[in-house]
Amino acid sequence: MAESMKGLQRTARCAEISLSEYEGKTVTLMGWVQKSRNKGGIIFVDLRDRSGLVQIIFDESTTDKTVFEKATTLRSEFVCAVTGKVVKREGAVNKALKTGDLEVIAESLTILSEAETPPFPVEDGIKTDEKIRLNYRTLDLRRPELQESLILRSKLSQEIRAFLSEEGFLEIETPMLTKSTPEGARDYLVPSRVHPGSFYALPQSPQLFKQLLMCAGYDRYYQIARCFRDEDLRSDRQPEFTQVDMELAFVNEDDVIDVNERLIKRVFKSVLDIDIPTPIERITWQEAMDRFGSDKPDMRFGMELKDVSKVVEGCGFGVFTGALENGGSVRGINAKGMGDLGRKKIDAIVEDAKEIGAKGLAYIQLKTDGSVKSSFTKFMTEDETKALIDKMEGEAGDLLLFAADKNKVVWDVLGTLRLKLAKELDIIDNDAFRFVWVTEFPLLEWSEEEGRYLAMHHPFTMPMEEDLELLDSDPGRVRARAYDIVLNGTELGGGSVRIHQNDIQERMFKELGFTKERAWDNFGFLLESFKYGVPPHAGLAYGLDRMVMLMAKKDSIRDVIAFPKVKDASCLLTKAPGTVDEKQLSELGIGIVKED
Ligand code: AMO
Ligand code: AMP
Repeated sequence: MAESMKGLQRTARCAEISLSEYEGKTVTLMGWVQKSRNKGGIIFVDLRDRSGLVQIIFDESTTDKTVFEKATTLRSEFVCAVTGKVVKREGAVNKALKTGDLEVIAESLTILSEAETPPFPVEDGIKTDEKIRLNYRTLDLRRPELQESLILRSKLSQEIRAFLSEEGFLEIETPMLTKSTPEGARDYLVPSRVHPGSFYALPQSPQLFKQLLMCAGYDRYYQIARCFRDEDLRSDRQPEFTQVDMELAFVNEDDVIDVNERLIKRVFKSVLDIDIPTPIERITWQEAMDRFGSDKPDMRFGMELKDVSKVVEGCGFGVFTGALENGGSVRGINAKGMGDLGRKKIDAIVEDAKEIGAKGLAYIQLKTDGSVKSSFTKFMTEDETKALIDKMEGEAGDLLLFAADKNKVVWDVLGTLRLKLAKELDIIDNDAFRFVWVTEFPLLEWSEEEGRYLAMHHPFTMPMEEDLELLDSDPGRVRARAYDIVLNGTELGGGSVRIHQNDIQERMFKELGFTKERAWDNFGFLLESFKYGVPPHAGLAYGLDRMVMLMAKKDSIRDVIAFPKVKDASCLLTKAPGTVDEKQLSELGIGIVKED
């Protein structure tokens, strides 16, 4: 039976008690029963709250009889209040516990709530399926690893706020119910009751509002903002996620990078006590692609891509020369230590490459016994083969892998294989935090699907001045004043210098296939406010969930979000999204058409 906590006042959290401060004192603790063991005459109870565990002792020979009897009914996850005296632990010290050198001799016990047997044990390292954990998220959230992640998340947000506020940034909220704008991901829509047939969109980011704030003179803005994007989910993507969003006026990219390097340094030091060396390395997008096959390179290890196009030019292997003739390239990676792999393993790597989009994957195995096995050197002369191996710095024990195709395919295939093989070879330093800025992104990318250019970052990103003249003649080659901050191969954040000149913005919309009318229809409120004095401005947004995920060394952002959604964008706990009743629908002027 649940008792009242009338007259009781918690003294401290369970694991906040120390011998030095509390020995001999009487405390009142409140929490959940982790474990209760009745060792005939003595009951040991581990009491848990968000600070950790403490051991409570009910001794039949000294504890009040009714209190002892009540203690025999305690089960896992019962919520109780215990008043007792803090003493030095009689048994061996438990070094794994913060409170391992003490125990509390109970004098009174109040059962505040009973609990059914939980569907899984509330402890770390459980193998329970994630779906079950998400179904019972409140129990899951009681586990120390999730509590640590959410505590880290809270600390990180506090530090970010403190730093940005010290730097003169103003925290300003922007609307959640806003206007749907094309470009970017699919919007989540909210129907309007007052304007039947009209919809608000939930913001994909506060991008346009923060630019309006710059026009309005709030020259340093930030917000820890919820964003919504209806896109396919992955382990580092959620339909609603949190950005640390900022914008600055009268600055260029170096100013944004500078303040953000200081931000990163500060939060890693105060939250994890880790020193991040600054300045953080900067590489251009082109270099990132050429060396790592990715615009979010994991630079904790080598195995860099090498362009061997020049070496294989005119060789006897048609796959290579064919790709070059089609305007593509031939590139390779050297997987050191994989030269002796068996046929099956090699075939599996080739299959992986095909899944990523390769037509095939050519290889040379340099076995440790000095022999050489290859899928294609039979088509080449000995000299050609030697030149290729030399270019790849191949040695006995190496596996050389080559892809020949359009650049985009080659980068994607080798960039992805590089990561996969590094994991298999276990050459990634999991303790490292390796930051890099990737700069000079292409402004536009061609969409086969839409038959037009799309903005790679967003339509308000400034082209590089020296490339402006290419905007009409060769738009695909224009580079943007955009930058991403990448940590251990994950895109942590991104931003750009914005266009603040109407003529450039108009040219940009034209490249994106917008008529003037459509541009004004969608973004008129921004263009209009630019008419009345707009300062040059630039900004950046981090994915806060991703930052916490990497800091807490978790594989998924679901582990650092209190109530995340699963792959199909549903919430297993609340069962959202759900149907609504007819009355609600008719008020909104919405009818549901059932598909056959
Ligand atoms: P961008 O679209 O690059 O830029 O987003 C910024 C950062 O937000 C994170 N992020 C996500 N995190 C979790 N789930 C998602 N679905 C998701 N999508 C993005 C990433 C990303 O780097 N307005 C611009 C910023 C700017 O230009 O200032 C923007 O939104 O970590
Ligand atoms: P094939 O002539 O198709 O039998 O291919 C000979 C070898 O080249 C095989 O090992 C294929 O996997 C490989 N290969 C085929 N296409 C490509 C490509 N685009 N890039 C790299 N290797 C390829």
